[in-house]
Amino acid sequence: MIPITPAGPEASPVEQLVAGLAGDGYAAIPGFLPPVLVRALRREALLRDRRGEFVEAAIGGPGERHRDTTVRGDRTCWLTGTAGPQRRLLTLLEDLRVQINRELFLGLFDLEAHFALYPPGGFYRRHLDAFQGNNARVVSMVLYLNSGWTPDDGGQLRLWPAPHARLPVLDVAPRAGTLVCFLSERIPHEVLPAHADRLSIACWFRRNQPELPLASLT
Ligand code: OGA
Ligand code: MN
Repeated sequence: MIPITPAGPEASPVEQLVAGLAGDGYAAIPGFLPPVLVRALRREALLRDRRGEFVEAAIGGPGERHRDTTVRGDRTCWLTGTAGPQRRLLTLLEDLRVQINRELFLGLFDLEAHFALYPPGGFYRRHLDAFQGNNARVVSMVLYLNSGWTPDDGGQLRLWPAPHARLPVLDVAPRAGTLVCFLSERIPHEVLPAHADRLSIACWFRRNQPELPLASLT
């Protein structure tokens, strides 16, 4: 077997991301998004929130979705790709999807993405984004839109190296421009309580999944 060489400090952000996914199954890349795009996305998210377009987040798969504020306390708004900054982001992520497929043959087919706003006290308990066999999510990505975030603001994203691991491997501060990506079926993660408004975009590259029988959607 050929060992995967970790990407060195010279590696481009995309090379770091690909090496992380192929190796340990995760990568965190500060400064992935240009500051102008971060600011534009942030403005748009806050505007949509003021207009009441965010809804209290739910948990569970098709047919079992429900709210549970003991598990997560954020509110979310799906990206539709219509407005300028969203469009730019989705174009960038589409390029990324093609590059990951070219390098890793993951068969990534499409993307879903939402803004998430955690108010002070908000958290999201340890979870996996996909369960083997019943979910199309393959790669999870989270982008952060919080400028001036300090350690006192909390809200780190904590990652574990494998589904049943007890010791975490990484805490990432949700600072403006940082991208975290990981394999959806392999890496459990948690959002620690935030002490200030915490804004992120969570996205998932999905595999093409055959239509579910209608009965399983009800
Ligand atoms: C999620 C999630 C992490 C974050 O929405 O599934 O894990 O840092 N989000 O916002
Ligand atoms: Mn998650």
